[in-house]
Amino acid sequence: MFYRSLVRPALFRLAPETAHEFALHALAVALRPEGVRRLAERRLRRAPFGRLERFGLSFDNPVGLAAGFDKNGAAVRELAALGFGFLEVGTVTHLAQPGNPQPRLFRLPQDRALINRQGFNNEGAAALAARLTRTGRPDCVLGINIGKSRAVEVSEATADYLASFEIVHPHADYITINVSSPNTPHLRELQRADALAELLAALQTRNRELSLRAGQAATTAATTTVIATAVRRVPLLVKVAPDLEEGDLEMIVDVARRTEVDGIVATNTTITRANLQHTPTGVVSAIGAGGLSGAPLKARSTEVIRALYRLSRGTIRIVGVGGIFDAADAWEKICAGASLVQLYTGFIYEGVTAARDINVGLAEILRREGFRTLEEAVGCRAE
Ligand SMILES: Cc1cc2nc3c(=O)[nH]c(=O)nc-3n(C[C@H](O)[C@H](O)[C@H](O)COP(=O)(O)O)c2cc1C
Repeated sequence: MFYRSLVRPALFRLAPETAHEFALHALAVALRPEGVRRLAERRLRRAPFGRLERFGLSFDNPVGLAAGFDKNGAAVRELAALGFGFLEVGTVTHLAQPGNPQPRLFRLPQDRALINRQGFNNEGAAALAARLTRTGRPDCVLGINIGKSRAVEVSEATADYLASFEIVHPHADYITINVSSPNTPHLRELQRADALAELLAALQTRNRELSLRAGQAATTAATTTVIATAVRRVPLLVKVAPDLEEGDLEMIVDVARRTEVDGIVATNTTITRANLQHTPTGVVSAIGAGGLSGAPLKARSTEVIRALYRLSRGTIRIVGVGGIFDAADAWEKICAGASLVQLYTGFIYEGVTAARDINVGLAEILRREGFRTLEEAVGCRAE
C-alpha cells in the first residue's frame, strides 16, 4: 500500500533508468546494516512450503527475482531480505560493456508493462565475481545469468560464454545461459538446434572439469569416494524467448535433454507488441525497438511453459517468468508446469512486498485447491 501510494508515484516521476538505479542504491544502503536486514526478513520472508528441492538445490520458497534487475550483483544480500527464494543476477558478459544509448527503458503504466533495449549494460563477469567475493553470498539460492559480449561475433560465442562461465562458476548455485535477449544483435540465433547444442555441450564439459577441480581442491587428502561426492556440476539452465514456435520449443527440449541441461527459464521479453491494450499506438511506435515485459507477456509466457512441460513430459524443470504481479499469476505458471517462478516488471509495479505477498497468496491458493504440496500442483493444468 505504502509503496503503491507513495513510493511508486515518486519513483515513476523519475526517468525509468534513473529510478531503477536510485531504488537499487536506496535498497542497498537501507538494508546494509545487519539489524535492519534481519528486521526486513522477519516481515517479508515466508517459507510456507517446506524446503523445495529443485535441480539439486534447496529453495525456501518458489519466488525469485528475474535477471536484469541486479545485473552487477550490487545488492544481493539486501534483495534476499525482501523474501525472494532465489535471485538471478546478471546478465553479465565476459567483456564489460555500456549497453545501448539511453533512453533505453520505458514504462507503459496503463498496460503494466515495460519496454527495454538495454543491451546487457554490465560491468563484466570478473567485476561481478569480485563483488560477490567482497560482499558475501545472499541468504538464498543465487543464480548467475551470462550472455554474449556484444563485440564478439556470434560464430565465436562459445569461447566468450566459456570465459564468463569459468569466472562465475565458483560463485553460482546455478548458471543460466541467456540466448534470448532481443537487444544483442544475432543473439537469438543461438537458439537454433546446432548452435545451441554446440554451446551447451561445451559449457557442460567445462562445468564437469571445473567442478572436478573444485572438488579436488576441497579434498586435500582425497580418496576416490571423497572426490566422487565432492563433484557436482553446477546446475545449468537455458533462458528462452517467448517468440518461438512449437517446433523450436520441441528442438530446445531435445537439445536440453541431450546436453543434460537442468532447467529452462521461460521466458525472456517479447519483440511483439501483442496484447498492449491501453497504450496509444503512437506512443508504442515512438519508443521503437526493445523487449516487452509485464502483463502483456503473461499469456504467451504461460503458453510456452505449458508447451515445454508437455514436450518434456515434466522431466525438465521450468522456471516460469513473464507478467507475474500476484499470487494468481504465479499459480497460473505453476499449474502450466513451472517449478519456480520469477518476476521483474511485477517487482517494479508492486514493490518490496511483492515476493512475500505472492508467497502468502500461493500458500492460500494451494490450501484452497486441496493440494498438500507445491510439487503436486506443478503442471496440474498442463494438458
Ligand atoms: C529492464 C529489464 C532488463 C532486463 N534485463 C535482462 C537481462 O539482463 N538478462 C535476462 O536474462 N533477462 C533480462 N530481462 C528479462 C527479465 O528477466 C524477464 O525474463 C522478463 O522481463 C519477463 O518477466 P517480467 O514480465 O516479470 O518482467 C530484463 C527485463 C527488463 C524489464
